[in-house]
Amino acid sequence: MSTPSPTNAGEAPWTVARILEWTTQHLKKSGCETPRLDAELLLAHARGCSRIQLYVQFQEVVSEAQRGVMRDLVKRRAGAEPVAYLIGHREFFSLDFEVTHDTLIPRPDTETLVLELVTGARRQSEPRILDLGTGSGCIAISAAVNVPHARVTAVDLSPATLEVARRNVRRHKVESRVELVSGDLFSPLSAAARFDWIASNPPYIPQAELANLSADVRLHEPTLALDGGPDGLAVIRRLVAEASGWMNPGGTLLVEFSPEQASALVALVEAAGGWQGVRVLKDLAGRARVLVASRES
Ligand SMILES: C[S@@+](CC[C@H](N)C(=O)[O-])C[C@H]1O[C@@H](n2cnc3c(N)ncnc32)[C@H](O)[C@@H]1O
Repeated sequence: MSTPSPTNAGEAPWTVARILEWTTQHLKKSGCETPRLDAELLLAHARGCSRIQLYVQFQEVVSEAQRGVMRDLVKRRAGAEPVAYLIGHREFFSLDFEVTHDTLIPRPDTETLVLELVTGARRQSEPRILDLGTGSGCIAISAAVNVPHARVTAVDLSPATLEVARRNVRRHKVESRVELVSGDLFSPLSAAARFDWIASNPPYIPQAELANLSADVRLHEPTLALDGGPDGLAVIRRLVAEASGWMNPGGTLLVEFSPEQASALVALVEAAGGWQGVRVLKDLAGRARVLVASRES
């Protein structure tokens, strides 16, 4: 896109189709795994339209101003900055969430946990839900939107992250049923609080593996959202140790983890005692992903 302007005689104009093709090739050479999709998302953002709308605009010439925006976005994407941060939002559980560098980008893997939570909570009359490490608020807000009679408390250690979650709570109009609190795991909760569901996608990457993560994640996503201590289980261990004390009898614990941690996590919960029906759910790719355990009545 550093070629002359479309108005120059003899130059092919920079149409939507041509920019998509150029960007796809450029991102592919930069090692991007989904170059065409990323090109479409970035160009749609630069043009202020949806990705689908681009398909009826292929022959339209892109303005110099939009090309300027696109040049900057493509440069940053080629430097491994995730598309979600560049365009400022990400879809999760069919809802749109604002994301910034202060929040983890919601992953499809986490939809497995939310589906279990929403399916179960819908059967209850007034479920109380706790989301520990809420990030963008994607678990808490998806639950509140899909279970209209639920009340949700969402905790995060990072006040900056909670500001983004707060905007997402407003965006999805669930302010009256989602309470956001800042602090370490259960510490900011009032002593009398009890929940029917405790859900968490905690940081669970072992410290030694942080350096091996892809550049997108390693260079751009918050370390606080990823770093699970020496064996990846530092936060999970504290969470499991305390969870049963905050739960109503028969309540359910849902914890996301990395597939290779499955047996360690099941052992952890069984050793903690007071839990029954311990099982592991698989994500859409068939990998062990979510621990489910019910508090003994
Ligand atoms: C893996 S991210 C998950 C974010 C979001 N729930 C999601 O699924 O996309 C973990 C989150 O936990 C937060 N966190 C890390 N340690 C915490 C702690 N001790 N207490 C509360 N939140 C914590 C991080 O700030 C981060 O937002």
